[in-house]
Amino acid sequence: GGQQILHPKVTECKGYRIPSPFSAETAKWQYDNWNPTNNDVLVASFPKTGTTWTIQIVKSVIYKDDEKMMDLMKFINANNSHLESGTPKNYEIMLKLPWKRKIWGTHLPAPLINMERLKKNGCKIIYVMRNPKDQVVSWFNMNKNMPFNKTEEMAKNFPAEWNAFLETLVNGKQPVFSKEGEWYPDHILSYYPYRNDDNVLFLMYEEMKKDPAKEIKKIANFLGVKRSDDEIDELVEATSFQSMKKEASKTMSQMSFFRKGEVADWKNQFTVAQSELMDEKFNEKLSGIDIKFTYE
Ligand code: A3P
Repeated sequence: GGQQILHPKVTECKGYRIPSPFSAETAKWQYDNWNPTNNDVLVASFPKTGTTWTIQIVKSVIYKDDEKMMDLMKFINANNSHLESGTPKNYEIMLKLPWKRKIWGTHLPAPLINMERLKKNGCKIIYVMRNPKDQVVSWFNMNKNMPFNKTEEMAKNFPAEWNAFLETLVNGKQPVFSKEGEWYPDHILSYYPYRNDDNVLFLMYEEMKKDPAKEIKKIANFLGVKRSDDEIDELVEATSFQSMKKEASKTMSQMSFFRKGEVADWKNQFTVAQSELMDEKFNEKLSGIDIKFTYE
């Protein structure tokens, strides 16, 4: 609830810093006890890279024709379905929900997920990525609008001023699912070795924006769900930024997850020098891997 947001706590799991409302206790619990089947789907991501969108696509692809389930899910706060949310008690709620295929989210890096067990069980994992400049701008705006920045402790790690915010971020000072000194590139690196596994699908926010029908089809195929071209068109419409924002405004529960929904908004925020710094910092960690981001 609001209390947690006003006074966020950072807990630690294997050296990774986890901000409330997520918790190390729940993260540990799921590593040891969560035993999904090949009907479960896990959407993994770093914050602000398209998590809410991808989860909605997965839900719609699977449950599009099941009005009851679609209605039920509207009222499940996205956070309750994160593996590391709140307390392990969340699992009691999630596991009792009457759904044939369970859909989960996580911001945990791969070392905090029992990847071996998930692979053995055939649990599907979708890892969604976004160009890091748009990710930062989205994250900056979200933090600016969160009351927790008003507390002294958090203001240190999440400054309200842009230049300082970027500085703490790229130096790995922000306690966001990372070890000290680490940030988004390290999260990507943690999942990268799994990219070709049969139970893993890597997606890009920018590609979803460019050709949503193609990417939604890819998701449906990966999940083993047959959808006609007409159905894919309906899914594109139902999961568009405008549709999702309108839907969220009815409940007001998730409005902070719908800001602009565009590619290249970073150009309104970054100076040329900051953009170069960002390229440099990112390439330092990711130069050896086969992932190219789209920035326009
Ligand atoms: P912006 O702040 O750039 O608008 P997450 O769900 O991982 O927190 O990511 C939030 C970002 O995804 C926000 O980016 C949000 O607007 C964008 N987003 C949410 N739904 C979307 C959709 N249907 N299409 C495109 N972008 C979407």
